[in-house]
Amino acid sequence: MPKTSTRARRRPRARTGPRELRVAAPARRRSASNGSATNAGNSTTGHVKDPALAREGRMRIEWADRHMPVLRAIRARFAKQRPFRGLRIAACLHVTTETANLARTLQAGGAEVLLCGSNPLSTQDDVAAALVSEYGIATFAIKGEDQRTYYSHIVSCIEARPHITMDDGCDLVTVLHTKMKSYLAGVFAGTEETSTGVTRLRAMAAQKVLRYPVIAINDADTKHLFDNRYGTGQSTMDGILRATNMLVAGSTVVVAGYGWCGRGVASRAKGLGATVLVTEVSPLRGLEAAMDGFQVVSMEEASPRGDLFITLTGNKAVLRREHFLAMKEGAIVANSGHFNVEIDIPALERLSASRRAVRPFVEEFRLRNGRRVYLLGEGRLINLAAAEGHPAMVMDMSFANQALCLEFLRKKAKALKREVYGVPKPIDEEIARLKLATMGITIDTLTPEQDRYLRSWSEGT
Ligand SMILES: NC(=O)c1ccc[n+]([C@@H]2O[C@H](COP(=O)([O-])OP(=O)(O)OC[C@H]3O[C@@H](n4cnc5c(N)ncnc54)[C@H](O)[C@@H]3O)[C@@H](O)[C@H]2O)c1
Repeated sequence: MPKTSTRARRRPRARTGPRELRVAAPARRRSASNGSATNAGNSTTGHVKDPALAREGRMRIEWADRHMPVLRAIRARFAKQRPFRGLRIAACLHVTTETANLARTLQAGGAEVLLCGSNPLSTQDDVAAALVSEYGIATFAIKGEDQRTYYSHIVSCIEARPHITMDDGCDLVTVLHTKMKSYLAGVFAGTEETSTGVTRLRAMAAQKVLRYPVIAINDADTKHLFDNRYGTGQSTMDGILRATNMLVAGSTVVVAGYGWCGRGVASRAKGLGATVLVTEVSPLRGLEAAMDGFQVVSMEEASPRGDLFITLTGNKAVLRREHFLAMKEGAIVANSGHFNVEIDIPALERLSASRRAVRPFVEEFRLRNGRRVYLLGEGRLINLAAAEGHPAMVMDMSFANQALCLEFLRKKAKALKREVYGVPKPIDEEIARLKLATMGITIDTLTPEQDRYLRSWSEGT
């Protein structure tokens, strides 16, 4: 990561390719009625692949917005109430159409938003371009950026001196707490989107190094029950199919990890006609997978059987040397967990006589034992690398949680400790209620008698 001490380094010194441009676009101010952009004449900076993609990006952002009615309603309220007036928010999130609509929502609420990608391969370049030049949101993200550029983009967001951080995987918070500690003083709260980030934050809190309260968005029921399960389930298969065009029916798919993401992927692979094997380290989750009708086996047992392996554990080296050596000719390996450490790619490299790209997002490793193993999307989250990530309809709830939790933090952060907090229950329930309403679904209401019964203890057999 580059050093950042001088003002001259405010902009990232990332490597730029021929069409990668730093852009200074007219900043936009939300219109009072709906939070949409109008030109305010200021200058917005960013580092995006190609500003000419902005129009295309805007069209796709608007398409996603049609499927995010809960977030839209929150944006309309924020545009009137302006809860984030005077607040600067640094967000390290996957730069997708849905994230763009979240950023617009915060902007409508009066915030200055700075955005960078939370993974080098997940950025949608047209969206990044539109955010800068159509919506006036400073965005630093390029699909396929190298490690140095990735971190320089995080640095750019921190150098803007945010008051609140929004993270997906804890990379921004980690940089802030290690190499850029001097910027911590101005930060009073944060949010974290994903399971892996929450794990890292809990470790920081346990070691007493976390310097401000963070809400774990992933802990909301309206997040992990839907985003991780149905969002990751569908989009992971989408990414694998776009990358490979394989026929899933009749194949053997090995799903490593039966958490919220793993159970979504396992059920979607089963629905497509695969025989699904599940590997786990948790007895409880292994039992659940078995009773959901999956074959639960060790990875050693699964290795020679699988046609397609998908890791979703949040752990490292789940697929490693001994497993690659046992795999059949043509086995495909993909990851949809947060970091690219679940597949031990260095071990795969060491075992291989050659490595070459055979399709976009597909690399062939020819092992010295003569067999070929295909790695998808450099081992990075395949749903975002080779497809578009989760559908907007499910991100509607995840990002409604983000928006409402930021509003909560603005009001209440002073009363919180330097710990990791769950999403307040009333926010979670309100989002479920709003989502049901937008889906035209009515549920029953407790009668007064039922309500009393559920709160009493004397009435029995
Ligand atoms: N691709 C995406 O868009 C997306 C979306 C949400 C979350 N994620 C990421 O996916 C990962 C999983 O998230 P989750 O919400 O399902 O987490 P989770 O904690 O609910 O589940 C992870 C499961 O993996 C199991 N596990 C751990 N090590 C293992 C090993 N060596 N072998 C087999 N199983 C193992 C755990 O016991 C657990 O049941 C995280 O990294 C998370 O950040 C990705």
